[in-house]
Amino acid sequence: MKLAALLSVFILGLAGSTGVRAQSAEPIVIKFSHVVAPNTPKGRAADEFKKLAEQRTNGRVRVEVYPNSQLYKDREEIEALQLGAVQMLAPSLSKFGPLGVRAFELFDLPYIFPNKETLYRVMDGDIGKRLFEMLEPRGIIGLAYWDNGFKQMSANRPLRSIEDFKGLKMRIQSSKVLEAQMKALGANPQVMAFSEVYSALQQGVVDGTENPMSNLYTQKMHEVQKHLTLSDHGYLGYAVIVNKRFWEGLPADIRATLEKAMQDATEFERAIAQRDNDDALAAVRRAGTTEVYVLPFRDRVVWHRALLPVHKEFERIIGRDFIQAVYQVAADVEKEKAAQPARQEPKERPGPSR
Ligand code: SIN
Repeated sequence: MKLAALLSVFILGLAGSTGVRAQSAEPIVIKFSHVVAPNTPKGRAADEFKKLAEQRTNGRVRVEVYPNSQLYKDREEIEALQLGAVQMLAPSLSKFGPLGVRAFELFDLPYIFPNKETLYRVMDGDIGKRLFEMLEPRGIIGLAYWDNGFKQMSANRPLRSIEDFKGLKMRIQSSKVLEAQMKALGANPQVMAFSEVYSALQQGVVDGTENPMSNLYTQKMHEVQKHLTLSDHGYLGYAVIVNKRFWEGLPADIRATLEKAMQDATEFERAIAQRDNDDALAAVRRAGTTEVYVLPFRDRVVWHRALLPVHKEFERIIGRDFIQAVYQVAADVEKEKAAQPARQEPKERPGPSR
């Protein structure tokens, strides 16, 4: 009995000291850098991932979130990830071209996604998987696709017809598809880091831009843009990526816990994205600084016709098979919706239905 008691004290002591060692050991730090405000779909989801990761690893992992380009701007952040200066990012899907993975520009093709169902099936299916595989030789692992929303056009002049774009300097992300899109509209595209857009608009370095409402509002672009056209002409979303060496070097149990935390943060992100964009639009309307114009169906048809040649132009670069596969997913979704007439939403085409 005495021996048993002694043994248990010894075992408890051992467990305790191991526990103390575990607690006092330095946590694994994940620096998660991004360029948007904390109160956006991406910003909130980064914070959600931090919360889940830290709780579920009992503090063995610490996630430091750096929003608003605090650490790095667009171009620099991917280099920093490859060098291991940060471990996690969620760049817009439009920013992978300079890395040499041009197929990501698939997501930039104007009017390619008629609705979010099509988009999610593309992200979560074979296409999304194949795109992530292309990152691995660059020392990057793709963990998840996060949503933001369909983009709207803004400028200091009304943008109602294609002719209104003529000669306008429009800020774009670093994507050749977006460059071609703006050229097809007669505008003059200017690549610029997200952190510089507000002052460039304010100082007239550029005349206008495109973004989902949550980005436009949280960067206060409405204060320096007199006109906004709800055109839903293109899409903006994210790939959450990590440094491959860092990720593969994590203890297996930690990596599994983080993967699950990422899955849950992704569900959270997709659930809030549309609402954040709707709230941002309402806030812009309330601010009264910007005239909001809803592009009518007849003009969407005209914009669609003007922008569709961009798909053809990029077949070789993005891959015809990828583009055709998205069309097929869109057709499948459409067919399934048509087979359920009771649940079908009234739909204006072209343009996304949510
Ligand atoms: C982002 O949402 O990460 C930024 C998008 C942009 O650069 O326009």
